[in-house]
Amino acid sequence: MSAHGTPIPMMSRKSGPLVGEANVPGDKSISHRSLILGAMAVGETRITGLLEGQDVLDTGKAMRAFGAEVEDLGGGNWRVQGVGVGGFAEPDNVIDCGNSGTGVRLIMGAMATTPISATFTGDASLNSRPMARVTDPLALFGAQAVGRAGGRLPMTIVGAADPVPVRYTTPVPSAQVKSAVLLAGLNAPGQTVVIEKEATRDHTERMLAGFGAEITTEVTDEGRVITLTGQPELKPQDIIVPRDPSSAAFPVCAALICEGSDVLVPNIGLNPTRAGLFTTLRDMGANLTYENEREEGGEPVADLRARYSPDMRGIEVPTDRAASMIDEYPVLSVVATFARGRTLMAGVKELRVKECDRIDAMVTGLQANGVQVEEGDDWYAVEGQGPGAVQGGAEVQSHLDHRIAMAFLVMGLATQTPVRVDDGGPIATSFPIFEPLMAELGAQIERSGT
Ligand code: S3P
Repeated sequence: MSAHGTPIPMMSRKSGPLVGEANVPGDKSISHRSLILGAMAVGETRITGLLEGQDVLDTGKAMRAFGAEVEDLGGGNWRVQGVGVGGFAEPDNVIDCGNSGTGVRLIMGAMATTPISATFTGDASLNSRPMARVTDPLALFGAQAVGRAGGRLPMTIVGAADPVPVRYTTPVPSAQVKSAVLLAGLNAPGQTVVIEKEATRDHTERMLAGFGAEITTEVTDEGRVITLTGQPELKPQDIIVPRDPSSAAFPVCAALICEGSDVLVPNIGLNPTRAGLFTTLRDMGANLTYENEREEGGEPVADLRARYSPDMRGIEVPTDRAASMIDEYPVLSVVATFARGRTLMAGVKELRVKECDRIDAMVTGLQANGVQVEEGDDWYAVEGQGPGAVQGGAEVQSHLDHRIAMAFLVMGLATQTPVRVDDGGPIATSFPIFEPLMAELGAQIERSGT
């Protein structure tokens, strides 16, 4: 079922060449943070290029419920009138974060050191995901959480009236956990320290510095030690959101596997904590180049050019790269089926607690489409069949997961027979223009209405 109830069955068929420019939407991670930090600043933040996917719109609604003004000025331009650190008001009603783990976890952090209560819920996918990873460290600040068994939503957070600063080592590589602790640390006195053993996306750190907070990152033997000085006055910003590398991944990968393709994906954020997929594809022999490399709004940016790559080979993806491409494994495993030889993706246990169990969803869907796949608790491996040889022909379940839906629709563009997806509705959470954008390039993706 889609987030809004009515499933949207879709299918894709052999296409190509894909040609043209793919202007993908704004970065989801930066969009959530722009709204939340804008709401915690004093004064007016302007955002250009905000991702208007459902996940981010739900975060905007939540910020209004906590008392900020959030206004859509049209054309991807937004205005947020912030209430200041510690200035959140108690929401009148339940906060529905829809499908978004990032939204709910960051917002829980942002409100946990203010003396108010808020109850959070989401769709069936979000309500099955673990929240203890966030509520455990929030309890150290003095916040309380009451939810369903297993630390699941719906859940009420009672914010700490007298928060204390925290020193916390994240037990899993998670930017959401790190960010929740840092956002909670904003309204605690003194210094809050987060230590992460593996680097995860650092947008929160970069943006907090941009909003004027005192924040440092030191690389030590323990890992990355991030120190935030609490109770700053955050200064409103003009933010230009770079385009999302995780969305760019879909037209890029489609171009690599569709014969004759040549696709340019301009203005993509290439923060090293996000760009692991593109390094991996190049390691596999993909014809993928960076053009016009530059810096915009504190983030490295380039135009990506992807051309049909019939000579890709399977590789062992380095495990220390996992965090920098965690959202890209579904579509990487699709590309791997069109390479020659085995691709091993290990150290990816976190995939089991995303919008769905992504290892399980990919393994089941790939096998149904004639691909040999093996899996273990924290790894899976795809036996590549080379270009042209992959059968396809099956219907897969997207499990309320946008990236599973898009990955299999990309797959069907190069299989012998079409691939069907039971519900493409969740695509709107992160990539609302996926269908017209792919159609413009020449991809045959349609709503099949079965
Ligand atoms: C995100 C962090 C990642 C990622 C998600 C967005 C973020 O989750 O999967 O899509 O914006 O912080 P984890 O931090 O749980 O790995």
